[in-house]
Amino acid sequence: MMEDDWMPPYFNEPDAPKDQLVPFVPSTNLTAEKVVELLKIKEDESIIDLGCGDGRILFKALEMKNCSGVGIDINKDLIDECNKKVINEKLNDKLKFYVDDFSRDNFDFYNCDCVCFYLVPKILKMIENKIKNYIKEDKNRRVVSIRFPFRNLIPTYIDETMKLYYYDYASKDGKYGKDDYLNLLPAF
Ligand SMILES: C[S@@+](CC[C@H](N)C(=O)[O-])C[C@H]1O[C@@H](n2cnc3c(N)ncnc32)[C@H](O)[C@@H]1O
Repeated sequence: MMEDDWMPPYFNEPDAPKDQLVPFVPSTNLTAEKVVELLKIKEDESIIDLGCGDGRILFKALEMKNCSGVGIDINKDLIDECNKKVINEKLNDKLKFYVDDFSRDNFDFYNCDCVCFYLVPKILKMIENKIKNYIKEDKNRRVVSIRFPFRNLIPTYIDETMKLYYYDYASKDGKYGKDDYLNLLPAF
């Protein structure tokens, strides 16, 4: 099987919402933690998860960094569950969840500082240019792709063990920051 063809075995589940380009397969808690760490989100920043599923990365980001978060997913049932949790735990000043489609033309990342997603190569190809423009427009922006990299963007940093691919644009200009331990690679 080609990497591009990867799909979990239950991809053909019945009643997948129209435009659900990837099935719901949650990240592990450890992955969620590592994504938050890697993005170095500050308290006054925000993160969006494209296809947030049960919102676990955003709940984790709030727990770890007290930052704001936006979760969007095409699957209304998942978003309804996230919103129930937000109401029950009184988190609505920090976390927002919306039914939305990240593949629509004018999708604008809700102006967040950081973006993460757990998608498959075929879908990454669809959003590659949007992501490139997103980090190019504001060099403070950071992106993490879980499990698969983009085909034509060189990550600034790769966590081989966790399969996390980190992208920013500032590093392209040689601004690697002081975190040498991160083993940063030349970007782009
Ligand atoms: C592999 S899961 C990842 C869930 C979550 N990000 C995580 O890491 O735990 C992919 C998610 O993308 C959602 N999705 C698929 N196509 C979408 C689309 N066009 N717009 C928004 N969400 C979509 C699915 O419903 C699913 O919840």
